[in-house]
Amino acid sequence: MNIAIFASGQGSNFSAIVKARKAGKFRANISLLVCDNPNAAVINKAKKYGVKIFLIQEKEFSGKTGFDNVVLKRLLQDKIDLVVMAGYMRVLGSVFVKAFKNRILNIHPTLLPAFKGAHGIEDALKYGVKVTGVTVHFVDEKVDHGPIILQQAVEVKKQDTPESLARRIHKIEHQLYPEVIRLFIKGKLEIKGRVVFVT
Ligand code: GRF
Repeated sequence: MNIAIFASGQGSNFSAIVKARKAGKFRANISLLVCDNPNAAVINKAKKYGVKIFLIQEKEFSGKTGFDNVVLKRLLQDKIDLVVMAGYMRVLGSVFVKAFKNRILNIHPTLLPAFKGAHGIEDALKYGVKVTGVTVHFVDEKVDHGPIILQQAVEVKKQDTPESLARRIHKIEHQLYPEVIRLFIKGKLEIKGRVVFVT
């Protein structure tokens, strides 16, 4: 199985997934990093681990479909089976989602459906929730919406800042994402409607 990881930022999940793979948590090739930000720290991480990088920016294209088609073509060329979104800051178009139906995963730093969007950790903290967490889900055409695979709760402490909460959330993410990838590879995820059963 060939995996493409999509990331635009720090890449701590990218590293956690590569390390889990190296440690034998699951068997698959991390074949490609797709990145839309030339300044992202994840690029150096991919270089360090010898993962091929496909850097592509939407501004080079006139429309969303053109961009999606080029990425799609590359994924097909590289025989990618599974797409793993790890802090990729662009919403995938429907052409893309349809082509990889039920084969795109995303991780979100809250307990969905609460606090969707790019600032989930800060939004949860500001709202005053006492428990937040991490969600890994399949991607559909709406943002942070597809069938939920696994979730794990994280307690919010009185003295938490966005940074301290983010640190604990990331720690959970780095465990949860490789586990979901393992379950996917083993064929243990069964989707009925929008409910995912781990078999
Ligand atoms: C993570 O918090 C993830 O939940 C969200 O983006 C962040 C990416 O962090 N989707 P990193 O780049 O993997 O460190």
